[in-house]
Amino acid sequence: MRKQIAAANWKMNLTLEEGSKLLESITSNSLNLSADRVVIFAVPFPYLISLGSAIKEPNMFLAAQDCSAHNNGAFTGEVSASMLRSIGIEYVVIGHSERREYHNESPALLQEKVNRALEQKLNPIFCCGEPLKVREAGLQNEVVENQLKESLFHLTGEQITGFIIAYEPIWAIGTGKTASSEQAQEMHQHIRMVIEKKYGKNIADSVSILYGGSVKANNSKELFTNPDIDGGLVGGASLAAADFSIIINSLKAGK
Ligand code: PGA
Repeated sequence: MRKQIAAANWKMNLTLEEGSKLLESITSNSLNLSADRVVIFAVPFPYLISLGSAIKEPNMFLAAQDCSAHNNGAFTGEVSASMLRSIGIEYVVIGHSERREYHNESPALLQEKVNRALEQKLNPIFCCGEPLKVREAGLQNEVVENQLKESLFHLTGEQITGFIIAYEPIWAIGTGKTASSEQAQEMHQHIRMVIEKKYGKNIADSVSILYGGSVKANNSKELFTNPDIDGGLVGGASLAAADFSIIINSLKAGK
């Protein structure tokens, strides 16, 4: 059964106090998450330890927003997958378009980050997605397919089973411009088909594919109803308790 996931991406927002209050208000009413629904909060590194106590439900987790491609050593400012594991973190966002764009993260580097995460038994939330120019040229399927091939297709079937991919069209991130439900479903279906071609149907069916890019309280239900959309990676709307709670409640049952 593949998981349906609401993942909050706080990015570089909120003080510790603001973040604690936000988490508290989301978790104050029991969310009663069924086994197939998962809620993840990708918070800034310095908060990962102290916010752990706010995570009260078995299907709720904190995530890091990135990890290093290296194991350890002279890499000032970097945080390794083994450090995250050592404080009990189980999820890590890898390859967010903001990392790809502002920090020049290449497909080869992302492949290394995925490897470090898996070595530490962290679950990557691997982001892919095309810029506006690519979408306008109609080349989005090809570009996203290559992003997956270049950073993930060295993995074994066992490693890809239950993997989490977030499709985030760059033109929809933080712009208020959401991909239409049809555009999102079409790409998610394509992603699942690309995985199926390489790894087979059972494995492709086990992968959770999240949509990201201006998911809001008023469009999450429509997006998540699609058969290949298994939840969302949510930026702006995850910073408001009421909105993110609605988004969590829009998750459909796993399948
Ligand atoms: P957004 O961000 O929901 O603010 O568009 C999504 C993301 O970048 O993960």
